[in-house]
Amino acid sequence: MELPYTEPYKIKTTESIRQGTCAEREKWIKESGYNLFKLRSDHVFIDLLTDSGTGAMSDEQWAEIMKGDESYAGSRSYFKLSDTVKELLGMPYFLPTHQGRAAENVLFSALIKEGDVIPGNSHFDTTKGHIEFRKAAAIDCTIDEAFDTSGFYPFKGNLDLKKLEKVFKKYPKEKIPLCIITITCNTSGGQPVSMKNIKEVSALCKKYGIRLFFDAARFAENAFFIKTREEEYMNVGIRDIVRGMFSYADGATMSCKKDAIVNIGGFIALRDKEIFDKASVFNIMFEGYLTYGGMSGRDMAALAQGLWEGTDFQYLESRIRQVAYLGDKLKYYNIPIQEPTGGHAVFVDAKRFLPKLPKQQFQAQTLAVELYKEGGVRGVEIGTLLADRNPQTRENRYPKLELLRLAIPRRVYTYNHMDYVAACMANIYNRRNEITTGYKIIKEAPIMRHFTIELEKL
Ligand code: F0G
Repeated sequence: MELPYTEPYKIKTTESIRQGTCAEREKWIKESGYNLFKLRSDHVFIDLLTDSGTGAMSDEQWAEIMKGDESYAGSRSYFKLSDTVKELLGMPYFLPTHQGRAAENVLFSALIKEGDVIPGNSHFDTTKGHIEFRKAAAIDCTIDEAFDTSGFYPFKGNLDLKKLEKVFKKYPKEKIPLCIITITCNTSGGQPVSMKNIKEVSALCKKYGIRLFFDAARFAENAFFIKTREEEYMNVGIRDIVRGMFSYADGATMSCKKDAIVNIGGFIALRDKEIFDKASVFNIMFEGYLTYGGMSGRDMAALAQGLWEGTDFQYLESRIRQVAYLGDKLKYYNIPIQEPTGGHAVFVDAKRFLPKLPKQQFQAQTLAVELYKEGGVRGVEIGTLLADRNPQTRENRYPKLELLRLAIPRRVYTYNHMDYVAACMANIYNRRNEITTGYKIIKEAPIMRHFTIELEKL
């Protein structure tokens, strides 16, 4: 008999979770203004809100926590981390920050000014927020294939070179301080970017004299997809692919809460000394001194270890397989998802799930609330609420994709948990025709509203 696939780790510590009752969940979600961010985690059974900072650290990482050096300046743990980043990514300059958006804040303070444009592939919301906060604009150049959730395309995170060149031709290069490739592209469904596309975008950027940066939160998962979906790289190791990817970039911001499997941490990696010097001033102002940047010594030590574990093929295989397993289960129940499944999450297509619900009533958010009520599973809306309003017209922006993201924390849940989530979704799918009304906004913040928004049931 062929032996079944199993994870390359065993579990040492457990944490109890409680399901709650339907009546309790009805009450808790209403009290939270139908905003899943406002729920207490004790009121959530299976938490698929995010894969960010929610992973389980290994014994080796916990050992590093004990070894952390808490010196304010010149900490041993800083050097451990900076050596790891340099070795893995091949970038000579490095600034630690407390998380990904902090890296964006520091880097963009050094590079972006009012009136600039920053092309990329479906910028993540904090990235877009930091761009728009500086009165600059994020221009989405993702390929059209990304917006057809049912069509199979192996690299739906790719940038469309024609769309990108149009931006490069329309604006003078002084107005384009950088182009950002998000690997994998969270907003389009955790979808990877091919090495071929990275090379082509890099060549185009060079032709027009534009810097190329990565939003590298899930760079290792992206490398796994390059290895498994791009024939040329089938026999290349993950870390060699990673080195190859970064050889095309001028720098990167990284939220280490994802692929480095830590609960907090971030960094900026750079090739250019001048940008490093400029960003260093902002790092000291916003984050902390250059050798800790908002992290404790133990955080940096665990992060260095996490970067090695996160780029291990066996680990990545178990990770991506679990995401695909949930995707396959949902498809078995005929539930429409972004295909093929991406790196960190399964994205349910709420427009196809609830076609009769008007988009003005927030289809993906409605589905997220239903899933919570059904079984205490917390997902997150990647749709109109997240897309915010147009900064000029203040009208709602209706994105092409209206998705419910089920993000899977790393090394946390079992296959039984995935079966449970899929069964909850199947129950909702079976009664989808009864879901005829959604929600209206009663309170919202001027930017990044989804975190604090309050809704009312129509
Ligand atoms: N870039 C990407 C692609 C992200 O997914 C995130 C965070 C960030 C940057 C910002 O990093 O949270 O460390 O400040 N994504 C989380 C998520 C919040 O749920 O997808 P951060």
